[in-house]
Amino acid sequence: MTDITIDHVTKNFAIDGRSVTAIDDISLKFPSGSFSALIGPSGCGKSTLLRLVADILAPSAGKITIGGTPPDEARRRHEIGFVFQDASLLPWRSVMDNIALPLEIAGGPIGDGPRPETLIRLVGLSGFENAKPAQLSGGMQQRVSIARALVLRPKILLLDEPFGALDEITRQRMNMELLRIWQETGTTAILVTHTIGEAVFMADQVHVLAAHPGRLVTTIDVDLPRPRALAMLQTPAFNHLENAVRAALFGDELKAEPEPAHG
Ligand SMILES: Nc1ncnc2c1ncn2[C@@H]1O[C@H](COP(=O)(O)OP(=O)(O)O)[C@@H](O)[C@H]1O
Ligand SMILES: [Mg+2]
Repeated sequence: MTDITIDHVTKNFAIDGRSVTAIDDISLKFPSGSFSALIGPSGCGKSTLLRLVADILAPSAGKITIGGTPPDEARRRHEIGFVFQDASLLPWRSVMDNIALPLEIAGGPIGDGPRPETLIRLVGLSGFENAKPAQLSGGMQQRVSIARALVLRPKILLLDEPFGALDEITRQRMNMELLRIWQETGTTAILVTHTIGEAVFMADQVHVLAAHPGRLVTTIDVDLPRPRALAMLQTPAFNHLENAVRAALFGDELKAEPEPAHG
Protein backbone atom coordinates (compact mmCIF):
# COMPACT_ATOMS: atom_id res chain seq x y z
CA MET A 1 0.00 0.00 0.00
CA THR A 2 1.57 3.27 -1.06
CA ASP A 3 -0.81 6.00 -0.13
CA ILE A 4 0.55 9.49 0.34
CA THR A 5 -0.61 11.70 3.19
CA ILE A 6 0.04 15.40 3.56
CA ASP A 7 -0.78 16.46 7.08
CA HIS A 8 -1.04 20.20 7.85
CA VAL A 9 1.96 21.02 5.68
CA THR A 10 3.26 24.57 5.39
CA LYS A 11 6.23 25.69 3.31
CA ASN A 12 7.80 29.12 3.63
CA PHE A 13 10.56 30.46 1.41
CA ALA A 14 12.86 33.36 2.26
CA ILE A 15 12.88 35.85 -0.63
CA ASP A 16 14.95 39.05 -0.17
CA GLY A 17 14.86 38.63 3.58
CA ARG A 18 11.05 38.26 3.65
CA SER A 19 9.23 35.01 4.30
CA VAL A 20 6.82 33.95 1.54
CA THR A 21 4.26 31.25 2.32
CA ALA A 22 4.15 29.01 -0.75
CA ILE A 23 1.96 26.38 0.96
CA ASP A 24 -0.31 27.27 3.85
CA ASP A 25 -1.48 24.40 6.06
CA ILE A 26 -2.52 21.91 3.36
CA SER A 27 -3.81 18.45 4.28
CA LEU A 28 -4.44 15.91 1.51
CA LYS A 29 -4.59 12.17 1.07
CA PHE A 30 -3.71 10.30 -2.11
CA PRO A 31 -4.99 6.71 -1.87
CA SER A 32 -2.75 3.86 -3.01
CA GLY A 33 -3.08 3.25 -6.75
CA SER A 34 -5.22 6.34 -7.34
CA PHE A 35 -4.73 9.06 -9.95
CA SER A 36 -5.01 12.59 -8.56
CA ALA A 37 -4.73 15.98 -10.20
CA LEU A 38 -3.57 19.25 -8.64
CA ILE A 39 -4.92 22.32 -10.41
CA GLY A 40 -4.63 26.00 -9.60
CA PRO A 41 -3.22 29.30 -10.86
CA SER A 42 0.46 29.84 -11.37
CA GLY A 43 2.23 30.37 -8.03
CA CYS A 44 -0.28 28.42 -5.91
CA GLY A 45 2.40 25.96 -4.84
CA LYS A 46 1.73 22.95 -7.09
CA SER A 47 5.39 22.35 -7.93
CA THR A 48 6.39 23.02 -4.34
CA LEU A 49 3.92 20.39 -3.14
CA LEU A 50 5.33 17.78 -5.55
CA ARG A 51 8.89 18.65 -4.52
CA LEU A 52 7.95 18.20 -0.87
CA VAL A 53 6.51 14.75 -1.61
CA ALA A 54 9.65 13.86 -3.61
CA ASP A 55 11.95 14.96 -0.76
CA ILE A 56 13.54 17.61 -2.98
CA LEU A 57 12.32 20.15 -0.38
CA ALA A 58 11.48 19.78 3.32
CA PRO A 59 8.29 21.21 4.88
CA SER A 60 8.50 24.18 7.27
CA ALA A 61 5.74 22.59 9.34
CA GLY A 62 3.57 19.47 9.13
CA LYS A 63 4.28 15.95 8.00
CA ILE A 64 4.28 13.91 4.79
CA THR A 65 4.23 10.12 4.62
CA ILE A 66 4.56 7.76 1.67
CA GLY A 67 3.28 4.28 2.44
CA GLY A 68 3.58 5.21 6.12
CA THR A 69 7.25 6.30 5.96
CA PRO A 70 8.90 9.71 5.54
CA PRO A 71 9.69 10.89 1.97
CA ASP A 72 13.47 10.60 2.44
CA GLU A 73 13.12 6.88 3.18
CA ALA A 74 10.79 6.40 0.21
CA ARG A 75 13.33 8.20 -1.99
CA ARG A 76 16.17 6.00 -0.79
CA ARG A 77 14.05 2.93 -1.56
CA HIS A 78 13.60 4.35 -5.12
CA GLU A 79 9.85 4.51 -4.66
CA ILE A 80 9.45 7.95 -6.27
CA GLY A 81 9.39 8.67 -10.01
CA PHE A 82 9.33 12.32 -11.16
CA VAL A 83 8.52 13.71 -14.61
CA PHE A 84 9.28 17.40 -15.15
CA GLN A 85 7.75 19.90 -17.55
CA ASP A 86 10.74 19.79 -19.86
CA ALA A 87 11.97 16.28 -20.52
CA SER A 88 15.47 17.21 -19.20
CA LEU A 89 17.24 14.45 -21.14
CA LEU A 90 21.00 14.27 -21.59
CA PRO A 91 21.49 15.35 -25.22
CA TRP A 92 24.59 13.23 -25.87
CA ARG A 93 22.94 10.01 -24.71
CA SER A 94 20.66 7.80 -26.78
CA VAL A 95 17.04 7.08 -25.83
CA MET A 96 18.12 3.75 -24.35
CA ASP A 97 20.98 5.30 -22.35
CA ASN A 98 18.80 8.12 -21.02
CA ILE A 99 16.25 5.59 -19.77
CA ALA A 100 18.99 3.45 -18.21
CA LEU A 101 20.63 6.42 -16.43
CA PRO A 102 18.84 5.91 -13.07
CA LEU A 103 19.94 2.25 -13.12
CA GLU A 104 23.56 3.32 -13.54
CA ILE A 105 23.26 5.81 -10.69
CA ALA A 106 21.55 3.24 -8.45
CA GLY A 107 24.21 0.65 -9.37
CA GLY A 108 21.91 -1.84 -11.08
CA PRO A 109 18.28 -2.93 -11.31
CA ILE A 110 16.13 -2.75 -8.21
CA GLY A 111 14.47 -6.11 -7.49
CA ASP A 112 12.43 -7.21 -10.49
CA GLY A 113 12.37 -3.73 -12.04
CA PRO A 114 11.47 -3.46 -15.73
CA ARG A 115 14.20 -3.65 -18.34
CA PRO A 116 14.77 -0.49 -20.41
CA GLU A 117 13.79 -2.49 -23.53
CA THR A 118 10.42 -3.28 -21.96
CA LEU A 119 9.86 0.36 -21.04
CA ILE A 120 10.72 1.52 -24.56
CA ARG A 121 7.88 -0.70 -25.81
CA LEU A 122 5.57 0.48 -23.00
CA VAL A 123 5.97 4.12 -24.00
CA GLY A 124 5.75 3.37 -27.73
CA LEU A 125 9.34 4.16 -28.78
CA SER A 126 10.37 0.84 -30.33
CA GLY A 127 12.78 1.53 -33.19
CA PHE A 128 14.12 4.72 -31.56
CA GLU A 129 16.45 3.06 -29.03
CA ASN A 130 19.56 4.63 -30.56
CA ALA A 131 18.11 8.04 -31.43
CA LYS A 132 19.42 11.13 -29.66
CA PRO A 133 16.94 13.51 -27.95
CA ALA A 134 17.41 16.21 -30.63
CA GLN A 135 16.11 13.73 -33.22
CA LEU A 136 12.79 13.30 -31.37
CA SER A 137 9.62 15.39 -31.23
CA GLY A 138 8.59 17.03 -27.94
CA GLY A 139 6.03 14.30 -27.26
CA MET A 140 8.60 11.57 -27.89
CA GLN A 141 11.07 13.26 -25.54
CA GLN A 142 8.43 13.27 -22.81
CA ARG A 143 7.85 9.55 -23.45
CA VAL A 144 11.55 8.97 -22.79
CA SER A 145 11.28 10.99 -19.62
CA ILE A 146 8.30 8.88 -18.44
CA ALA A 147 10.18 5.66 -19.20
CA ARG A 148 13.19 6.98 -17.26
CA ALA A 149 10.91 7.81 -14.30
CA LEU A 150 9.60 4.22 -14.34
CA VAL A 151 12.90 2.32 -14.69
CA LEU A 152 13.42 1.88 -10.95
CA ARG A 153 9.81 0.66 -10.62
CA PRO A 154 8.60 3.52 -8.42
CA LYS A 155 5.48 3.09 -6.35
CA ILE A 156 4.49 6.70 -6.86
CA LEU A 157 4.68 8.80 -10.01
CA LEU A 158 4.80 12.60 -9.73
CA LEU A 159 4.16 14.54 -12.94
CA ASP A 160 4.68 18.31 -13.02
CA GLU A 161 2.86 19.62 -16.10
CA PRO A 162 4.56 16.96 -18.20
CA PHE A 163 2.74 17.78 -21.44
CA GLY A 164 2.34 21.54 -20.98
CA ALA A 165 4.57 22.35 -23.93
CA LEU A 166 2.77 20.06 -26.39
CA ASP A 167 -0.03 20.91 -28.82
CA GLU A 168 -3.51 19.90 -27.72
CA ILE A 169 -3.89 16.84 -29.95
CA THR A 170 -0.51 15.40 -28.99
CA ARG A 171 -1.21 16.16 -25.37
CA GLN A 172 -4.54 14.31 -25.45
CA ARG A 173 -2.81 11.28 -27.00
CA MET A 174 -0.05 11.41 -24.39
CA ASN A 175 -2.65 11.58 -21.64
CA MET A 176 -4.33 8.42 -22.96
CA GLU A 177 -0.91 6.73 -23.02
CA LEU A 178 -0.16 7.92 -19.52
CA LEU A 179 -3.43 6.44 -18.21
CA ARG A 180 -2.62 3.12 -19.87
CA ILE A 181 0.88 3.10 -18.35
CA TRP A 182 -0.51 4.07 -14.93
CA GLN A 183 -2.99 1.19 -15.07
CA GLU A 184 -0.31 -1.27 -16.17
CA THR A 185 2.18 -0.23 -13.50
CA GLY A 186 -0.26 0.27 -10.60
CA THR A 187 1.48 3.39 -9.30
CA THR A 188 -0.07 6.13 -7.18
CA ALA A 189 -0.01 9.10 -9.56
CA ILE A 190 -0.19 12.86 -8.91
CA LEU A 191 -0.48 15.09 -11.98
CA VAL A 192 0.01 18.85 -11.81
CA THR A 193 -1.88 20.64 -14.56
CA HIS A 194 -3.51 23.99 -15.24
CA THR A 195 -5.97 22.58 -17.75
CA ILE A 196 -9.44 21.89 -16.33
CA GLY A 197 -10.39 19.27 -18.92
CA GLU A 198 -7.11 17.42 -18.46
CA ALA A 199 -7.57 17.27 -14.68
CA VAL A 200 -11.09 15.83 -14.99
CA PHE A 201 -10.20 13.42 -17.79
CA MET A 202 -7.25 11.91 -15.97
CA ALA A 203 -8.05 11.88 -12.27
CA ASP A 204 -10.10 10.10 -9.63
CA GLN A 205 -9.88 13.26 -7.54
CA VAL A 206 -9.12 16.85 -8.54
CA HIS A 207 -7.66 19.02 -5.79
CA VAL A 208 -8.20 22.71 -6.52
CA LEU A 209 -5.63 25.13 -5.05
CA ALA A 210 -5.60 28.93 -4.71
CA ALA A 211 -2.55 31.23 -4.57
CA HIS A 212 -1.02 33.76 -2.15
CA PRO A 213 -0.77 31.85 0.03
CA GLY A 214 -1.05 28.43 -1.63
CA ARG A 215 -3.99 26.63 -0.07
CA LEU A 216 -6.56 23.95 -0.79
CA VAL A 217 -9.92 25.27 -2.00
CA THR A 218 -11.78 22.01 -2.46
CA THR A 219 -11.54 18.45 -3.75
CA ILE A 220 -13.79 17.23 -6.54
CA ASP A 221 -14.40 13.50 -6.92
CA VAL A 222 -14.49 12.33 -10.53
CA ASP A 223 -16.86 9.40 -10.81
CA LEU A 224 -16.37 8.77 -14.55
CA PRO A 225 -15.79 5.09 -15.38
CA ARG A 226 -12.38 3.67 -16.33
CA PRO A 227 -10.80 3.19 -18.72
CA ARG A 228 -11.38 6.78 -19.76
CA ALA A 229 -12.19 7.29 -23.43
CA LEU A 230 -12.11 10.35 -25.70
CA ALA A 231 -15.88 10.11 -26.23
CA MET A 232 -16.34 11.02 -22.54
CA LEU A 233 -15.10 14.55 -23.28
CA GLN A 234 -18.45 15.30 -24.90
CA THR A 235 -20.76 13.91 -22.23
CA PRO A 236 -22.91 16.02 -19.88
CA ALA A 237 -21.29 14.25 -16.90
CA PHE A 238 -17.85 15.43 -18.06
CA ASN A 239 -19.03 19.00 -18.62
CA HIS A 240 -20.70 19.03 -15.23
CA LEU A 241 -17.40 18.06 -13.57
CA GLU A 242 -15.48 20.66 -15.60
CA ASN A 243 -17.96 23.30 -14.43
CA ALA A 244 -17.49 22.24 -10.82
CA VAL A 245 -13.70 22.65 -11.13
CA ARG A 246 -14.14 25.99 -12.91
CA ALA A 247 -16.47 27.22 -10.16
CA ALA A 248 -13.90 26.26 -7.52
CA LEU A 249 -11.10 28.02 -9.45
CA PHE A 250 -12.96 31.25 -10.18
CA GLY A 251 -15.45 31.49 -7.29
CA ASP A 252 -17.58 34.64 -7.37
CA GLU A 253 -15.87 35.93 -10.53
CA LEU A 254 -18.05 33.49 -12.51
CA LYS A 255 -21.25 35.05 -11.21
CA ALA A 256 -20.32 38.60 -12.22
CA GLU A 257 -22.49 40.11 -14.97
CA PRO A 258 -20.65 40.74 -18.24
CA GLU A 259 -19.77 44.37 -18.93
CA PRO A 260 -22.18 45.83 -21.51
CA ALA A 261 -20.53 46.21 -24.90
CA HIS A 262 -19.65 49.75 -25.91
CA GLY A 263 -20.33 50.67 -29.46
N1 LIG B 1 13.03 27.78 -4.47
C1 LIG B 1 12.21 28.81 -4.19
N2 LIG B 1 12.66 29.90 -3.54
C2 LIG B 1 11.84 30.92 -3.25
N3 LIG B 1 10.53 30.94 -3.55
C3 LIG B 1 10.01 29.89 -4.21
C4 LIG B 1 10.82 28.78 -4.57
N4 LIG B 1 10.04 27.88 -5.22
C5 LIG B 1 8.80 28.42 -5.24
N5 LIG B 1 8.78 29.63 -4.65
C6 LIG B 1 7.60 30.50 -4.49
O1 LIG B 1 6.55 29.70 -3.98
C7 LIG B 1 5.32 30.01 -4.61
C8 LIG B 1 4.76 28.77 -5.25
O2 LIG B 1 5.57 28.40 -6.35
P1 LIG B 1 5.35 27.07 -7.21
O3 LIG B 1 5.24 25.92 -6.30
O4 LIG B 1 6.40 27.02 -8.24
O5 LIG B 1 3.91 27.36 -7.86
P2 LIG B 1 3.19 26.65 -9.10
O6 LIG B 1 3.93 25.42 -9.47
O7 LIG B 1 1.79 26.38 -8.62
O8 LIG B 1 3.17 27.68 -10.21
C9 LIG B 1 5.61 31.14 -5.57
O9 LIG B 1 5.27 32.35 -4.93
C10 LIG B 1 7.09 31.04 -5.80
O10 LIG B 1 7.65 32.30 -6.09
MG1 LIG C 1 4.88 24.77 -11.21
